Amino acid sequence: MSQITSREIRLASRPKGIPTADNFTLAQTELEPLPEQQVLVRNLFMSVDPYMRGRMNEGKSYVPPFELGQPLEGGAVGEVIESRAKGFKPGDAVVSNYGWREYFIASPKELHPVSREIQPLSVWLGALGMTGLTAWAGLQLVEVKAGDVIYISGAAGAVGNVAGQLAKLRGCRVLGSAGSAEKVRFLRAECGFDSAFNYKAGPVREQLKLAAPDGIDVYFDNVGGGTLEAALSTLRVHGRIIACGGISGYNEEKPRPGPSNLMNMVAKRLTMKGLIVLDWLHRRGEFEKEVGGYFRSGKLKNKETVVNGIEQATGAFIGLFQGQNVGKMVVKVA
Ligand SMILES: NC(=O)c1ccc[n+]([C@@H]2O[C@H](COP(=O)([O-])OP(=O)(O)OC[C@H]3O[C@@H](n4cnc5c(N)ncnc54)[C@H](OP(=O)(O)O)[C@@H]3O)[C@@H](O)[C@H]2O)c1
Repeated sequence: MSQITSREIRLASRPKGIPTADNFTLAQTELEPLPEQQVLVRNLFMSVDPYMRGRMNEGKSYVPPFELGQPLEGGAVGEVIESRAKGFKPGDAVVSNYGWREYFIASPKELHPVSREIQPLSVWLGALGMTGLTAWAGLQLVEVKAGDVIYISGAAGAVGNVAGQLAKLRGCRVLGSAGSAEKVRFLRAECGFDSAFNYKAGPVREQLKLAAPDGIDVYFDNVGGGTLEAALSTLRVHGRIIACGGISGYNEEKPRPGPSNLMNMVAKRLTMKGLIVLDWLHRRGEFEKEVGGYFRSGKLKNKETVVNGIEQATGAFIGLFQGQNVGKMVVKVA
């Protein structure tokens, strides 16, 4: 195969506060000839995710930080262009962690084959991908069951809207909050939420109280901060919290003090469980079977916001912190 030139996004500097375009560069690289036992892949779609903000900081978390001057990483779905490894052939669709670039070479163990029959292929980054798995795992983590009243923040985003749809399928009463009237309409009309409100339109605690006068059993936390405080006040005795994310604090330069009403944990004997989706990868088959079934039968929607071109990827990433996406934010690379 002739020499392949691939464009990729690199981390130029570590963001302070909200990332800006200056923190990234679009660079070009030449791929080496394909070695034995390796596979050449062209990315079709790549994912931008809030957790990537944490990897742009210095210092170790549950995943190592991105390196300055190196391409970023993240979820992507692509097609095999050439294979020198058993089990892969040109045209196969694969999910990898080699996002933020047009082409890459990887070993089979770094590739997760997915069906091309399910379209668009970007669904493997959303409802049937990492964010869908996070939603599914979160509900398992605190054993969400029929009859539970569950409140989901960041509800119109990738994790939130799938968590809400799955909770509905499990027989829960589902409440959600999001940052615009359009998103609230989407939650009610398209995702089947029983109630939804715009957290920017008034205090969360008051809006949540109106939506759930008798309290909530489960809180699926995607945002942290004041919303977590409101949920702590609204949870019933023996309520459960899925600690999934805290996007309201990801761009803070200093950690914010914790909830002022944490004593609710004691008084109401609450349980709060942390979730890291990487711990659930061994359950991916089970998840794909169940949620893929809902998707194929039309019981679950994959909502996405698609941005075109790798050169728009950093804008799409920054847009996550401005609420520019409804559903999963994906970038169409090819
Ligand atoms: N624990 C894990 O393994 C795991 C895995 C995946 C994701 N997560 C976490 O789950 C959460 C959702 O991730 P996602 O991929 O589904 O992203 P997403 O919700 O699709 O996108 C981010 C959304 O967050 C909202 N947002 C932005 N700034 C906010 C702020 N200051 N306060 C409140 N909301 C804000 C925006 O919606 P609005 O317009 O509604 O504000 C935006 O659309 C994130 O916290 C992420 O880190 C955790």
